[in-house]
Amino acid sequence: MILYFTGTGNTKFVAEYIADHVGDECVDLGEVLKYKRPLRFNSVKPFVFCAPIYAWRFPKLIEKVIARAELTGSEQIYFIATMGSQTGDFEYPLEKLAYAKDMAYMGSCGVPMPNNYLSGSDLSTPEEAEVKIKASLPLMKTLSDRIMLGSMIEKFDDTPFAGLASGTVNYMFNRFFVSSSKYIVSEDCVSCGRCESVCPVNNVRLSPTGVPHFDRYCIGCYSCVNRCPAKAINIGKKTEGRNRYVCPEYSDWKSAGKITE
Ligand SMILES: Cc1cc2nc3c(=O)[nH]c(=O)nc-3n(C[C@H](O)[C@H](O)[C@H](O)COP(=O)(O)O)c2cc1C
Repeated sequence: MILYFTGTGNTKFVAEYIADHVGDECVDLGEVLKYKRPLRFNSVKPFVFCAPIYAWRFPKLIEKVIARAELTGSEQIYFIATMGSQTGDFEYPLEKLAYAKDMAYMGSCGVPMPNNYLSGSDLSTPEEAEVKIKASLPLMKTLSDRIMLGSMIEKFDDTPFAGLASGTVNYMFNRFFVSSSKYIVSEDCVSCGRCESVCPVNNVRLSPTGVPHFDRYCIGCYSCVNRCPAKAINIGKKTEGRNRYVCPEYSDWKSAGKITE
């Protein structure tokens, strides 16, 4: 069973690629969380948890979900991250989680995908994103093959001071930077409600007059910011005028013949 969490679609793409190649089902953890479904999963095939990297680690919420989830059937567990370029030491807490759940840790690996961290810099154009996704298709194939064979997977990316990045820096990031308090909604907002519907943690509500309001449960997935059709949500002033990014759908790439193996 491939269980994924995504903000802007990269992780969904990778999870669906793997599910398609290993012949397994895909579960959207964002939907499970949004609709408060039980965290109980049964699978005869290995569990493969996929999530984006936020500050050199899986999102805190997803680590908690994995810790709490009741997993029955297979005793094997894999972890796959999607990232701009660096996963830090994200595998360390996941390996500990696997052992705490009394499961066989089958390894972790990061797949480079277009960066969606709009606060940091301008994001890829669709053409640039396509090049980056294409370059990662062979890695998705290798991971799928290994999962199908029941072999261990290994990560290949390197982060200087990885332990520090995934430890102290990640802690500071979550403590001081993950918040929707800096989100500003511009006059371009058309009150379509997309921000409310895409938020996996139900942190956005439209007021009776159609203005989005953000609560304090934001996990920083940037889904609302990147998916707003009017580009009306900004993080302070610095993101104004920057490209937004949403990953293409795996099914569209497949039907367009872009997935060759
Ligand atoms: C809050 C935040 C923090 C991020 N931190 C990192 C990071 O530490 N290293 C990295 O390579 N990419 C980082 N990224 C980029 C994402 O991991 C990457 O774009 C990922 O593929 C997004 O997945 P999604 O489209 O499934 O949400 C970050 C993105 C966000 C929104």
